[in-house]
Amino acid sequence: MKGIILFQSKYGTTKKYAEWLSEETGFSVIEIKKAKIEDVKEYDVIILGGGIYASGIAGISFLKKYFDILKEKILIVFCVGASPFNEEALRTIAAKNLKNELSRIPCFYCRGAWNLEEMNVIDRTMCKMLRKVIAKKEPSEYEIWEKALMAAGDRSCDWTDKEYLEPIIKYLNR
Ligand SMILES: Cc1cc2nc3c(=O)[nH]c(=O)nc-3n(C[C@H](O)[C@H](O)[C@H](O)COP(=O)(O)O)c2cc1C
Repeated sequence: MKGIILFQSKYGTTKKYAEWLSEETGFSVIEIKKAKIEDVKEYDVIILGGGIYASGIAGISFLKKYFDILKEKILIVFCVGASPFNEEALRTIAAKNLKNELSRIPCFYCRGAWNLEEMNVIDRTMCKMLRKVIAKKEPSEYEIWEKALMAAGDRSCDWTDKEYLEPIIKYLNR
């Protein structure tokens, strides 16, 4: 089967997973911004990966826009965030991003990275502001992503690991 991996990545972690997945599967890999639907529709398997920003999966609009053309294909989504893996949190992200007819698309999770230094000014300011808001809450009430953000603090963290791709490979080989 012919497959393609589309990705949208701001700080490189989703790109890294897309490239690892390409090595594992032999599928082509391309940034969503450069992808043309006329080319994408020639593939049997379409995997879309995007970083998570304020619970939204980057690049998911491509799938929404072209779902009618792609709905008969094998579609897979993976998202990359700073939170540790949590099934319930992933279900919430999937429900928010893959609505209606897109809800049958399997959604996988890979843990990314966190580096305040590397972020652009807007993202860094937003994360620092968010941290101040979270700090006012009881730690026991933190959402899983909030807990990760507080634990990371100003440290640079990289949780990327090929193991996160295993469920996707398993799904493809099912
Ligand atoms: C402004 C901002 C918002 C973020 N929101 C979330 C979030 O809601 N959930 C999460 O798990 N990670 C969140 N992250 C962390 C990113 O998803 C993480 O750094 C990921 O590795 C980014 O992937 P990319 O480098 O491919 O864009 C956020 C990061 C930034 C800068």
